[in-house]
Amino acid sequence: MNKTFPSARLDRLLANLGYGTRREVQGLIQSGRVILDGEAETNAAQHVYVKPDLATRMTVSGEPLDPAPGMALMLHKPLGVTCSHKEIGPLVYSLLPERWRRRDPVISTVGRLDKETSGLLLMTDDGALLHRIISPRHHVPKRYQVTLDRPLNGDEIETFAAGGLFLEGDDKPLLPAEMESSSPKQATLTLHEGRYHQVRRMFAAVGNHVTALHRDRIGLLDLPAGLEPGAYRLMTAADIEAVFGAST
Ligand code: URA
Repeated sequence: MNKTFPSARLDRLLANLGYGTRREVQGLIQSGRVILDGEAETNAAQHVYVKPDLATRMTVSGEPLDPAPGMALMLHKPLGVTCSHKEIGPLVYSLLPERWRRRDPVISTVGRLDKETSGLLLMTDDGALLHRIISPRHHVPKRYQVTLDRPLNGDEIETFAAGGLFLEGDDKPLLPAEMESSSPKQATLTLHEGRYHQVRRMFAAVGNHVTALHRDRIGLLDLPAGLEPGAYRLMTAADIEAVFGAST
């Protein structure tokens, strides 16, 4: 069973999780502050299997170990924060524990939401998972709740469903997208691709303007009702399965 999980030296594992430099974590380990399966592990060179259950078996300075590498989380992105490592101003990464920003591999957003879009955002340090979700080959649909400046003209459902629309500056036509509407200035739009500012540009292409945008579903994974803006939660295997549940 263990053979499917990589092992890592304890000091390297903790340093890569952001607990400090290699030297600093060696100090932590040697002082008996790292407990594994109920006993102090004082050998920094000890190899441990990097399994998802490590956080339930190890504590560091009395706190459960941070999630092992290969983690994914879902965040309720609030308005006004940016999905970037680089830009100035509030970043989604500032919503996570400070130490998590020093992890290697780094935690990245799975695709992006605009600064002024709220809703379900996935983040992971697992590059293969990230690519599986954003790859056009897997057709993971994403659902948006859209508020518009002007009433719908009545043609949008057909126009978007037909596909083939060219957005300004793009050299490839859009894939078909499903739209529903329950009131003149509200729409639910499900996309099967992810282009820059896609929802805003689609409504601009049909003469409207998006005033509020919220993503509430990725694949068959809904933004959990109890997850407040700015809050996050680790994804379970079932959550990840739900992301691919609607894929074709
Ligand atoms: N489409 C947009 O226009 N913005 C987003 O953030 C996501 C999809």
